[in-house]
Amino acid sequence: MEKKSLKDIVVMGKKVFVRVDYNVPMKDGVITNDNRIRATLPTLEYLLAQNAALVLASHLGRPKGAPVPEFTLAPVAKRLSELLGKEVLFAPDCVGEEAAAMAKALKPGQILLLENLRYHKEEEKNDPEFSRQLASLAEVAVNDAFGVSHRAHASVEGITKYIPTVAGFLLEKEILFLGQAVNNPVRPFVAIIGGAKVSDKIGVIENLLTKVDRLIIGGGMANTFLAAKGFATGKSLVEEDKLDLARELMVKAKNAGKELLLPVDVTIADRFAVDAANKVVAADAIEGDWMALDIGPVTSKAYAEALKDAKTVVWNGPMGVFEMDVFAKGTEAVAKAVAASGAKSIVGGGDSIAALEKLGLAREITHISTGGGASLEFLEGKVLPGVAALADK
Ligand code: 3PG
Repeated sequence: MEKKSLKDIVVMGKKVFVRVDYNVPMKDGVITNDNRIRATLPTLEYLLAQNAALVLASHLGRPKGAPVPEFTLAPVAKRLSELLGKEVLFAPDCVGEEAAAMAKALKPGQILLLENLRYHKEEEKNDPEFSRQLASLAEVAVNDAFGVSHRAHASVEGITKYIPTVAGFLLEKEILFLGQAVNNPVRPFVAIIGGAKVSDKIGVIENLLTKVDRLIIGGGMANTFLAAKGFATGKSLVEEDKLDLARELMVKAKNAGKELLLPVDVTIADRFAVDAANKVVAADAIEGDWMALDIGPVTSKAYAEALKDAKTVVWNGPMGVFEMDVFAKGTEAVAKAVAASGAKSIVGGGDSIAALEKLGLAREITHISTGGGASLEFLEGKVLPGVAALADK
């Protein structure tokens, strides 16, 4: 990376502002998955070993610029403290007198987590004064929040104008793995894109089509492609306004000599419910009142086959309605095939990761991205504002 990272600067004994993405899933105040916290430990442990004093900042959820108790980072401070085996102080706000005093009093080797940045509307507005206030809490800043680096927010982008800001180890690793896969892949390079809507991933599909050898499409978005082929899709989710685009993408793939794989069979249901009647039919035989909620077994096999010789795999998005067990089979089959491929594999998106974790296969994956939207924008070929703003080497 031509941007400065932690090892390019001296942090020994310094006060360091660390932007992390601790936007973790919670249920009734309990963290249900702490991957994003664990993923920052290498950066934090390195800084602590350098006797730095750490001021950590994150957002959680979308409280829309006001303090909403449901979105407090207090449980995160507790979890981080358990993971580090060390006290983590917690400031009741991210700016203001108390936060400033607590940051000032921080001794080398101590950690302070600030309350949710998004309790202030200035964060998302990238407000210069708010950025300056955050910057005033430390001498240097580290961006280890890959998951929010696609947002030009005050703690991500604005702050870089006031103190030198470098990449943390997690950010560096994300860019390295995603960058290598997309720009310098060992071939065959196979991408699997799923999820409900084509409209969410148009840019990703367009960009990846120029890079991959094979593109596998699954999930709700496959229905729009099936409809574009002239197949009857019953009550399946189809984006009528994206039919032309789907046709264009299929032509583009063909002209570029890329394989574009679509379902050949699907699991259909008579309604969108876990206890709906369901059966497997050919992809061109979806009945009028039924809807496709997963890829079928023949498709699962074909997709697994298409992954066998892959040397690089990028996977984002489920193959069906993964949250309902009966429609999770396609996603699970793909998870197994990605893990078994032996390819350098990069996986992003909550459902794909959940499928791997459920099957105990997450360890087989080369890199599990902590970024949802951020990894998608990266795969689109976009420059992430949080990365662009870092200090140059
Ligand atoms: C995420 O979970 O994708 C990041 O934390 C960004 O959150 P946001 O979509 O609310 O900006």
